[in-house]
Amino acid sequence: MRLERVAAHVPAGARLADIGSDHGYLPVALMRRGAISAAVAGEVALTPFRSAERTVRESGQHARISVRLANGLAAIEPEDDITAISLCGMGGETIRDILDSGKARLSGQERLILQPNGGEQPLRLWLMENGYRILCEEVLRENRFYYEIIVAERAGPMVYSAQELYFGPLQMQARSPVFLAKWQRMLRVKHKTLGHFARARQAVPEEKMQDITRQARWITELLA
Ligand SMILES: C[S@@+](CC[C@H](N)C(=O)[O-])C[C@H]1O[C@@H](n2cnc3c(N)ncnc32)[C@H](O)[C@@H]1O
Repeated sequence: MRLERVAAHVPAGARLADIGSDHGYLPVALMRRGAISAAVAGEVALTPFRSAERTVRESGQHARISVRLANGLAAIEPEDDITAISLCGMGGETIRDILDSGKARLSGQERLILQPNGGEQPLRLWLMENGYRILCEEVLRENRFYYEIIVAERAGPMVYSAQELYFGPLQMQARSPVFLAKWQRMLRVKHKTLGHFARARQAVPEEKMQDITRQARWITELLA
C-alpha cells in the first residue's frame, strides 16, 4: 500500500528516477502499467542493486529502465531528462542529505515524491530553504507503522512556520483521521519520554528536556 500511494503521485508519462530503489518494484510496476515513459533505478549498495537488476530483467523492461549503482542523485545524468524523482523508505535526514549533496543534478523542473520514515521536519526545512513548495502530503498506516508522503516542486521562496515544518502544512489543514491518530500516538511517546527523563538517575540535558516539552505542547495544541 505504501508504494502504491507513492505511485499515485508520479505524474503520468514521467521520466522517473527512483533513488534507493532496492528491489526496483516501483519503476517496474509503473512501467508495466504504462504510467511512466522511462526510469532510472539508482542504488548505492550492491545487493539491492543486483536485486533491482533482476526485477527489471525478469520484467522485460530493461530497454526503458536503467539500473545504476550510484550514490544518491549521481545516478542521474542530464540526458535522462528526468521529470520526477522518488526517494522512499529512508530516514528524512538521509533523503535531505541525498538531495542536498546532489543539488547540482536537479534541474528544478522535477517533481519530488518523498516518503521519509521519520525525520520529516528536517526534510521539510530543506525543501523550504531550497524554494520547494509542498503540493501534496499524505499520512498512511500500514502494519502498525505510520508513513508520510511529501510531494514537492520548486516554486521560488517559501515560508512555513515551525509548526508547519513539524506537522506538515497541508496535513495540519486537512486533519485526516490517520494524521490525528499518528499524533495521538506521538503524544503518548513524548509523555513517556518525559516520564523517563523525570525518573532518570543522570541529569538529562536541559535543552533536550525543553525540546521534548515543546513538542508535547505543540501536539497537545494540535489535538485540542
Ligand atoms: C529501505 S530501502 C527502501 C526501498 C524502496 N525505495 C522502498 O521504499 O521500498 C532503502 C534503500 O535505499 C538505499 N540507499 C540508501 N542511501 C542511498 C544513497 N545515498 N543512494 C542510493 N541509494 C541509497 C539503500 O541501499 C536501500 O536499498
